[in-house]
Amino acid sequence: MTILVTGGAGFIGSNFVHHWLASANEAVVNLDKLTYAGNLANLASLQNDARHVFVQGDIGDTTLLPQLLAQHQPRAVVHFAAESHVDRSIHGPMDFIQTNVVGTFQLLESVRAYWSALAAEQQTAFRFLHVSTDEVYGSLAPDAPAFAETHAYEPNSPYSASKAASDHLVRAWHHTYGLPVLTTNCSNNYGPYHFPEKLIPLVIHNALAGKPLPIYGDGMQVRDWLYVQDHCSAIQRVLQAGRLGETYNVGGWNEKPNIEVVRTLCSLLDELQPRADGQSYATQITYVKDRAGHDRRYAIDARKIEQELGWRPQETFETGLRKTVAWYLANADWVANVTSGQYRQWVGQQYGA
Ligand code: NAD
Ligand code: DAU
Repeated sequence: MTILVTGGAGFIGSNFVHHWLASANEAVVNLDKLTYAGNLANLASLQNDARHVFVQGDIGDTTLLPQLLAQHQPRAVVHFAAESHVDRSIHGPMDFIQTNVVGTFQLLESVRAYWSALAAEQQTAFRFLHVSTDEVYGSLAPDAPAFAETHAYEPNSPYSASKAASDHLVRAWHHTYGLPVLTTNCSNNYGPYHFPEKLIPLVIHNALAGKPLPIYGDGMQVRDWLYVQDHCSAIQRVLQAGRLGETYNVGGWNEKPNIEVVRTLCSLLDELQPRADGQSYATQITYVKDRAGHDRRYAIDARKIEQELGWRPQETFETGLRKTVAWYLANADWVANVTSGQYRQWVGQQYGA
């Protein structure tokens, strides 16, 4: 048996491929375009593992996809591939519409053609799992209840609007064509292989490099953090037992204001790799211009996946963040590799000198 993963050279996708091969003895075909966010170094330890087949390509390639599906006959597709960074979507929304909306549409069509031609038994067993985000629900007031699956879609950024559009396409392909789909909407992930354009790895990277730690606006925006391995186990569980056509919100009941996250990171770094001058990394915290249209608060109500599927996260924020900081300290080469070249252009554009 084989599954097809899209975007498996990115942050969550590569963690998922490792998680899958460690826990299920089932081959993975990994289709990734290798944009700036995709990195084969994330998969280096799988180089000699015959169960992992990497294919560089675009989810929207309507010649490649039918060939890949016919050749490998996957029993499931797990769809991670996307443009994923909100700030980049503000500067240049076109790539987000192209991959997240048009690409997902083209992928759905390729998969539908493949699935329609399967024998009845394989058709029934087939799954298309779409990996989405809590950002499709918009922003919560401070005392509002966390996002349940029934919350209205109110996306506010070009990124979240493009993800919302892809969720709607997936839903429609189930309702209209009967494609056996599942959707997960997860909160903010953190952990190994996280590209240092996102808050947690950016702060670790800048702290160690003696650079400012940029806090947008007042730093009181709230995100709900989940260790990436817990997201991977949730996806695996939904794929195994989720009800067709349903969506499952994934989160660890872990809301934190950004400034608290950054201060906790500084304390961990002070402990694990103190600054030569004895000062705290917190002295590098710098308040900068806010993100345009910045969502104030996200929070996930994870009761459905917990009660229906018995999923629970394994890490607390404290254990997960400590593991994450330790991973970045032990993997300075990985960070140096991904922060060369194009990365510098982005940092210059977003944060100036
Ligand atoms: P990422 O940006 O780290 O990785 C995206 C991957 O997709 C990269 O490897 C990239 O090369 C690949 N890709 C991009 N366009 C492609 C295309 N057209 N064809 C094939 N491959 C392409 O993203 P991530 O943070 O790992 O997020 C993965 C998925 O999870 C996304 O769909 C995202 O919306 C969703 N998600 C992310 C988070 C989070 O906190 N990072 C939370 C919830 C949901
Ligand atoms: O909620 C899930 C989403 O989480 C995913 O769908 C996205 O793909 C993922 O990128 C993430 O989006 P955020 O915008 O929440 O993540 P980011 O790490 O970019 O920012 C987290 C918070 O930190 C947010 O409130 C903005 C703030 N921030 C971010 C950066 C990069 C700063 O204050 N300074 C920064 O330099």
